[in-house]
Amino acid sequence: GRKWTEVKALNEDLKDQVVLIRGRVQAIRAVGKKMAFVVVRELGFTVQCILTVTPDVVSAQMVKFATSLSRESIVDIEGVISVPATAIKGATQQVEVQVRKVYCVNKAIPTLPINIEDAARSEEEIEKALKAGEQLVRVNQDTRLNFRVLDIRTPANQGIFRIQCQVENIFRKFLLSEGFIGIHTPKLIAGSSEGGSAVFKLDYKGQPACLAQSPQLHKQMAICGDFGRVFEIGPVFRAEDSFTHRHLCEFTGLDVEMEIKEHYSEVMDIVDRLFVTMFDSLNDTCQKELEAINEQYHFKPLKYLRKTLRLTFEEGIQMLREAGVEIDPLGDLNTESERKLGQLVLEKYDTEFYILHRYPLAVRPFYTMPCYDNPLYSNSFDVFIRGEEIISGAQRVHVPDYLAERAQACGIDVKTISTYIDSFRYGAPPHGGFGVGLERVVMLFCALNNIRKSSLFPRDPQRLAP
Ligand code: 4AD
Repeated sequence: GRKWTEVKALNEDLKDQVVLIRGRVQAIRAVGKKMAFVVVRELGFTVQCILTVTPDVVSAQMVKFATSLSRESIVDIEGVISVPATAIKGATQQVEVQVRKVYCVNKAIPTLPINIEDAARSEEEIEKALKAGEQLVRVNQDTRLNFRVLDIRTPANQGIFRIQCQVENIFRKFLLSEGFIGIHTPKLIAGSSEGGSAVFKLDYKGQPACLAQSPQLHKQMAICGDFGRVFEIGPVFRAEDSFTHRHLCEFTGLDVEMEIKEHYSEVMDIVDRLFVTMFDSLNDTCQKELEAINEQYHFKPLKYLRKTLRLTFEEGIQMLREAGVEIDPLGDLNTESERKLGQLVLEKYDTEFYILHRYPLAVRPFYTMPCYDNPLYSNSFDVFIRGEEIISGAQRVHVPDYLAERAQACGIDVKTISTYIDSFRYGAPPHGGFGVGLERVVMLFCALNNIRKSSLFPRDPQRLAP
């Protein structure tokens, strides 16, 4: 094989050396008929390649060929590295390639449905450009999603998905270091795991079944099966009717379940250390990605404390009431009151990441453990970033007959979960856990305004393609 150099590795040390690179044509500029500039991009790094008509090396035909290449085509370029006297604008690499050979590996259609350079500009920038009379098409979110393969080539989007990968990576690494074991539970199950009607129903060889709304039941069964501490990273399906900025029909769940010795705060301790570790690591290791996202979406870094703030639901209600919000002390918080509380918490405690616990029992799923001292409340919690929920968790009921009673009271057909309930008849320790929405974490850490931006190929009530 020939020796290839990555675009990101092109630097002054390679001066006068011949290199072979592969990338996409990002931009082309012809200067008369004897010269052309081609900006080549590989994995977010760009380099300016120059063709100059030179006897025996570069023909006028070659220059013509280069200027006729369509944007985003894949090309191989061989050339000599040179170092210009002045800084190069419009390329990440501060060297140039004096081209000797160009080969088009696979061409893109001449007119792309999205212009990537425009798609990479911030909304403010686009508005300014339009006002200044620049010819550009303002691509809306739907258009971007229709042509997602192009849209995800922008630097901000490349950054978003590298951050997503890092969130997953830290989740796994942290939990492994805390003695958890990674598991996989079935996604084809007999009934609803969270209650409610948001389930995709299907026919399982003549038997009614559905896509799992969460690994809830089976992760608890893994605890009954003596694993002590488990986690899972896997798909979660919700037949959501609501078309909102934060609900998907399929998302990635980061789930945790663990034995509890004394108190559900042991679960919140894990949340606390896991997320502080995660945010620290994202800020440390993803600077380039965060900068790229910031270029396009302008956000302030997340404010969080070294020890995560914990408020009880009652304290939250109190804060909201003092701020003039009328609210049912035993009802759930709606999106608006969650946001409001997020603001109040930020003002009072200077953090945008906090845990709210001891929710009213009535607003939690059937498997949630009531508080020992007051059964109107429960040993449960939600976790918020910038006033929006990213996690819900709780201690679970581990007494089988009571669990069946709770399921029935919550309108669940106990028959469909009988093997789950029976699991607690063979000896089951007190336990609890939580579920995190991966796309929500990325969306809110980067202060994106829509969860579709942090889902590679989002599935929502209206979208099943691409
Ligand atoms: O709050 P949820 O429904 O809780 C559970 O699934 C429990 N089994 C968790 C537990 O262990 N007790 O979902 C957990 C998280 C939410 O906090 C949210 O971040 C995310 O999953 N989530 C969604 N993300 C995108 N689209 C949706 N439709 C989501 N529904 C929940």
